[in-house]
Amino acid sequence: MSMTRTTAIVTGAARGIGLATTDLFLAEGRRVAMVDRDADELQRVAAERENVIPITCDVSDPEAVAAMARRAVADLGEVHALVNNAGVADFGPIDECDFATCQRVMGTNLDGVFLCSQALSPALRAVSGAIVNIASISGLRASTLRVAYGTSKAAVIHLTRQQAAEWGEHGVRANCVCPGPVRTKLAMAVHTQEIIDAYHDAIPLNRYGSEREVAEVICFLCSDRAAYVTGQTLAADGGFESTGVGLPALRG
Ligand SMILES: NC(=O)c1ccc[n+]([C@@H]2O[C@H](COP(=O)([O-])OP(=O)(O)OC[C@H]3O[C@@H](n4cnc5c(N)ncnc54)[C@H](O)[C@@H]3O)[C@@H](O)[C@H]2O)c1
Repeated sequence: MSMTRTTAIVTGAARGIGLATTDLFLAEGRRVAMVDRDADELQRVAAERENVIPITCDVSDPEAVAAMARRAVADLGEVHALVNNAGVADFGPIDECDFATCQRVMGTNLDGVFLCSQALSPALRAVSGAIVNIASISGLRASTLRVAYGTSKAAVIHLTRQQAAEWGEHGVRANCVCPGPVRTKLAMAVHTQEIIDAYHDAIPLNRYGSEREVAEVICFLCSDRAAYVTGQTLAADGGFESTGVGLPALRG
């Protein structure tokens, strides 16, 4: 890592993929602003770590995001990376997805990425920083029960391209990571045993991923090793997205 890449902001940092990403950034020597709406859990995990700034914020709330951005910039000085990871999942049939549910999912998964990126764009431009947005394989391939979740994630993939297109001339890179299934609280709340079995069948590597495996990809894209990569979507998914039908039947 370049010695100048010394800070990062991670949303949804209190647990799961966001916490694993925070830990990898800390191992790289970065100071990390940990953003989450779960104040208690955020304080608990932040107290166990050095070099972190916990900021309680709901990323779907424009005013809270503006305050978070001011605080993060004031405390970090420079913002070299923004990881828009906060997300919520809701699985159910289209006909049963009421408007409030749809808006709640869009509010965090899509509006949150839009708001945080826009609020931090001046700071990112000032140092040619990097954005990594966390979408999902559910944004790459449609599936049953994911009308709001999958659509919000597909929008995040395109929002990433818009950011790359407009902010590239300012030196800001924007890339997207699409995780496959990881056994976090978010996934376990919506993955039944049947869904778990179906994922195992459909994934060439034949297993769920780990938080660390996804965090490695995020940190690579934030680093100067990816200095000429922008507007890309990288699936950390055990091969799920690249694969067609018949996998279990054709296994040896
Ligand atoms: N776990 C998976 O299988 C999987 C697969 C694909 C994509 N993803 C995506 O990865 C990201 C992280 O997921 P995870 O599995 O680590 O989830 P998680 O539920 O373990 O952690 C998400 C964190 O985000 C926080 N959060 C949620 N809404 C927020 C909001 N509005 N403002 C601030 N913080 C908020 C939560 O409090 C929590 O700490 C999400 O965007 C998710 O959609 C996860």
